[in-house]
Amino acid sequence: MKYSNVLTACLVSVGLTLFTTVKCIADEHPQVIQGEHGHYLQVNNQPFLIRGGELGNSSASDMKYMESIWPKLNAMHLNTALVPVYWEQLEPEEGKFDFRQVDALIKEARRYNTKLVILWFGSWKNSMSSYVPRWVKRDAERFPRAVSEQGIAQEILTPFHRNNVEADKKAYVALLQHLKKTDAKQQTVIMIQVENEIGMLPSARDHHPLAKQAFVAPVPQTLMDYLIAHKDSLVPELKEAWAQNGFKKAGTWNEIFGANIWTEERFMAWYFAKFTDEITAAGKAVYPIPAFVNAALNHRNVLPGQYPSAGPLPQVMDIWKAGAPSIDLLVPDYYNPDFKHWSDLYTRQGDPLFIPEHKFDDTVSAKALFAYGHYDFLGFSPFDIESPDDAANHPLGKTYKLIQQTEHLLLNSKAGVTRDGVWLTKKTPEAHIQLEPEVTLILKHDNTLGWNASSTQDEWSHAGAILVKVDKETYYIIGTGVVLTLQSNVPGKVYGFDRIDEGEFVKGTWKAGRILNGDQSHQGRHVRIPEGEWGIQKFVIYPY
Ligand code: DGJ
Repeated sequence: MKYSNVLTACLVSVGLTLFTTVKCIADEHPQVIQGEHGHYLQVNNQPFLIRGGELGNSSASDMKYMESIWPKLNAMHLNTALVPVYWEQLEPEEGKFDFRQVDALIKEARRYNTKLVILWFGSWKNSMSSYVPRWVKRDAERFPRAVSEQGIAQEILTPFHRNNVEADKKAYVALLQHLKKTDAKQQTVIMIQVENEIGMLPSARDHHPLAKQAFVAPVPQTLMDYLIAHKDSLVPELKEAWAQNGFKKAGTWNEIFGANIWTEERFMAWYFAKFTDEITAAGKAVYPIPAFVNAALNHRNVLPGQYPSAGPLPQVMDIWKAGAPSIDLLVPDYYNPDFKHWSDLYTRQGDPLFIPEHKFDDTVSAKALFAYGHYDFLGFSPFDIESPDDAANHPLGKTYKLIQQTEHLLLNSKAGVTRDGVWLTKKTPEAHIQLEPEVTLILKHDNTLGWNASSTQDEWSHAGAILVKVDKETYYIIGTGVVLTLQSNVPGKVYGFDRIDEGEFVKGTWKAGRILNGDQSHQGRHVRIPEGEWGIQKFVIYPY
């Protein structure tokens, strides 16, 4: 995984041309940068934090249908829409490209001051190949299908046949060429997702004759070289399998990783990654905007073949990284509740987190706050974003409004150092953040006070907050449904709140409102943003 650096890109550009700064800026394109405070997206030469939402699958195929959706995105304070571009619509006849959908999306997005992340529904969408054009679908001889263990052809293009990769690549490159021509200056399209939830079903691996041949061949040298070079930092699931088979430096898939169903997933992951990488690299050669691949998370204790296997899942992350170096991000889609568990797995090798899909349920507002605060984070995006009837009052919009106001703080603080996030539920109502060695902040769900009628209910709303440190004594808390108290770590020393202000940021400048004391701080005992309210408070602590 490579992250470019603006300065380098500019210097190269200056070196190659005689047009200095102007040429350099004109040549820029969206990119992922590894900065002093973590990774960030750069768009129009500025850091950009995504407040996103993904459209339902079919919405973007009809601009009339989209008319009522754009204002909803604005009402919920989104700055980015994740929208599919469908191969079947882009290339209805082989070699004849129709960019009307893409152009209309870009035009409308600009009108509503919204950026776009394009989702390339190409060869695969949720494992299946339902978005390939009819001329591909109806010619299985030329564009062969993956085959199950029982020998049955699936509605899934095999990644092992050259015709398949060439056809997808041609369309993808045409799309990137068009984006470069029509959008490089304005940069409305800021990233592209290559395919959608790639995965093998109903068998763990493809049994097409070409796949069978590859399975008994030696593990490709590129992957072996990667394993050897990254031996110490491989994900434990992969390293263990390799260790159990003696860290061999050459051999077939079964010899290197052991003859079991997990090896079948590893094998498939490599060939899906190679296919995706070839397309992405060809697109990047034309217009190198950031590219990512999303994964449908498997449930725990379920075997490959019973879930869409071999997408960029944590257990095969190294295989994807080795096979698809032109992909910038490998990311999770959330339709299961283990949000922290999976997010930790996706970031355990120091990668930034981006969440292109999360089920649009009651938890998103709190989880988004947690993720923006806790992780090296590029952005959040619930799926089916157009679904709320009352977009103007949706909790996600309230969270996004806070993110919008404080993005300069978030972009200039480092996760785990000068910024953190919490997500509080009835099951996990308390979290601790050490502010300084001498003092720890205790953050609790507002219902732990027992003051709200909802405290006695079986279910609690989810609460979430971001803490940003200004200096040893000064902090911002941003969020909903939290109560903060201080715990001294030094015997004989007590910490209290010197001052608490509520307020807001207007164009990056703090505008204080009420000074919170008395009942609002429980006579100085706590800082509180009640359940059902979203806000920002600045507080100063002191020892006595
Ligand atoms: C995950 C897919 O990536 C989306 O396109 C959509 O099909 C959702 N699942 C539906 O829940």
